[in-house]
Amino acid sequence: MSHESIAPVLVVGAGPAGLTIALSLLKNGVPVRIINKAPVDHKEQRGLGQQPRTQEVFHFLGALLEMRTMGIDLQPLVFYKFPGGKEVLTTLRLVASEDPTPSRPFNNPIQVPQYHTEAVLRSHLAKYGCSVELNTEFVGLKQFDDHVEATVKRMEGGEEMIETKSYRWLVGADGGRSVVRKQSGLAFEGTSTPEKAILGELYLEGLDTEHWHMWLKDAGNDLPTSLLVRTTEVPGKFWFMLSGDIDPDQALVSNESVKQALQLAMERDDLPLGEIVHVTDYRPSVRMVNKFRTGRVFVVGDAAHVHTPRGGQGLNSSVQDAFNLGWKLALVETGLAPPSLLDTYNEERLPVIKRMLQETVRMTQDVFTKRGDAESIKSAWQRGTHLKQFGINYRWSSIVFDERFQAIDAQGAEAAALNPYGTEGDSILRAGDRAPNATGLVRVGQDAQSQTTDLFSVFGPTHHTALIFGGGAAGIRAIIKSLQVCPPGALFTVIVSPGADSVALNAADGGDAVLHDGDGTAYAGYGMSEYQTYVVIVRPDGVVGATVSGEEGVRKYFGAVFSDIQPA
Ligand SMILES: Cc1cc2nc3c(=O)[nH]c(=O)nc-3n(C[C@H](O)[C@H](O)[C@H](O)COP(=O)(O)OP(=O)(O)OC[C@H]3O[C@@H](n4cnc5c(N)ncnc54)[C@H](O)[C@@H]3O)c2cc1C
Ligand SMILES: *[C@@H]1O[C@H](CO)[C@@H](O)[C@H](O)[C@H]1NC(C)=O
Ligand SMILES: *[C@@H]1O[C@H](CO)[C@@H](O)[C@H](O)[C@H]1NC(C)=O
Ligand SMILES: *[C@@H]1O[C@H](CO)[C@@H](O)[C@H](O)[C@H]1NC(C)=O
Repeated sequence: MSHESIAPVLVVGAGPAGLTIALSLLKNGVPVRIINKAPVDHKEQRGLGQQPRTQEVFHFLGALLEMRTMGIDLQPLVFYKFPGGKEVLTTLRLVASEDPTPSRPFNNPIQVPQYHTEAVLRSHLAKYGCSVELNTEFVGLKQFDDHVEATVKRMEGGEEMIETKSYRWLVGADGGRSVVRKQSGLAFEGTSTPEKAILGELYLEGLDTEHWHMWLKDAGNDLPTSLLVRTTEVPGKFWFMLSGDIDPDQALVSNESVKQALQLAMERDDLPLGEIVHVTDYRPSVRMVNKFRTGRVFVVGDAAHVHTPRGGQGLNSSVQDAFNLGWKLALVETGLAPPSLLDTYNEERLPVIKRMLQETVRMTQDVFTKRGDAESIKSAWQRGTHLKQFGINYRWSSIVFDERFQAIDAQGAEAAALNPYGTEGDSILRAGDRAPNATGLVRVGQDAQSQTTDLFSVFGPTHHTALIFGGGAAGIRAIIKSLQVCPPGALFTVIVSPGADSVALNAADGGDAVLHDGDGTAYAGYGMSEYQTYVVIVRPDGVVGATVSGEEGVRKYFGAVFSDIQPA
């Protein structure tokens, strides 16, 4: 087969994970074909919202503002008392609400219907002339050394067509029942949970729209029955999930039987239930792949891991998978990076997902065992702010590298190395961590006219960013020179100047921007001092790749990321 007939990337599945990887690749100039077996775009709520870290990814992809037009702050949750189901037992917040800070501008989860998240991402794909091919189902693949052959089934003019084409890479984002995963022989290990659920949307009257409403009923057996109801953006329409020790087959016999099951769960007949818009059976299990890649095939999102919705990590983790893989695949496909860079996708994400599954299992057990009074409920349902996913890190990754932390604390570096969700209060920023935002930065230079900016406007999914800290002109010049090993356009170099004086400006030749850290948030957030020169290299996915002090470190980091960079 000639090389001309091999296309770059096929993305199978157009949920949040598939759309995110497609957009990351397109922004990096890599053409994508994305297919969805569904005949039309769904209109469902599904994953209810976005964790702060997910919002940050959508910010970097340029799509957050439109997501937020339909987003509201995550609402508090009301629990009702039994018998009666009417009186309030307690009200709580699943995740404590926090004020935005300079390093965390999006500090709280928001509720956005999943169909809207997907529609916004599709509208961004369209800017690159890419649209999702509906009614197109992936059915099989064959791997070769330099390509993958994928077979799809699609409808054309009312007729079924089978078509086989070759791609250099294939990304399976085809959800929990992933055919890509099965066809590529990846194991999906874990267990089913005893919990069964039905979920859907219906019209009802009499419930306020400022809270989520929860009827948690202890029937004396192992599993409590819980009914969660919350508003949607359509007046009168609510989303619901009934779960626990229920019989979905029986509940789903008719619309009337669905309503009866709901009424039984809340013990109330004063809330008139109207039309059932849709309802489905949902049997959560807890499983993950043994690896995220085999040869030229990757899995992202639900295709790689499923778990109970508790803690809201599903969509959120799926988007992070896609964003982790996107820039790496783009650099390899455009010939700038060695294929070994792709091994770090599995190396970085596998421990995070493993930890996430443990967390969701623990939260589920808590919810099953701690019940009855308001105190138990609070201790089971109010969750740590680590679920916002700010702490998720890749400190163990073979491509991240931190000279500064080794200098501060060599033993601590080892001991604290493997906590993929991070530890709250672990305040020393290290390579592998999320790169924080910083505000009040003032552009310095001839035509800059003192506009203020922030670091999150400087980072981006198509380039690395080098932040040079420290006040000494000689050190800055040496670092800028060493950074010139990078391929053109692949790096944006910023001198973060502690003062408004001209030292940094005089040294700035070859850098892209000088930013004066007017309110000190950048130096504070990155734990830097004006007396020592360091460069913090931020990856395209907003993660600190390296903190190094000179040419040797610069070459060590970029030598693993880009082809043809030799050690100093
Ligand atoms: C009905 C439903 C309800 C859910 N409810 C909740 C909830 O209440 N709370 C919660 O936290 N999470 C919920 N989830 C999970 C949440 O939606 C997922 O975590 C999130 O969507 C993961 O994104 P994804 O892109 O990995 O997968 P998905 O969103 O599942 O996307 C998979 C995509 O692949 C397509 N596809 C599948 N097979 C093929 C094939 N062979 N060929 C081509 N395309 C294919 C599908 O049509 C779809 O577009 C729900 C999921 C579903 C399906
Ligand atoms: C993402 O996190 C939010 C906030 O906790 C949660 O409401 C939502 O359900 C999560 N999404 C998914 C699909 O897990
Ligand atoms: C960075 O922080 C500033 C100040 O909090 C905020 O205005 C800006 O929106 C942030 N940037 C992003 C996109 O997070
Ligand atoms: C339930 O109601 C919906 C919406 O009115 C309708 O489309 C559907 O066919 C009904 N389902 C059953 C099983 O009656």
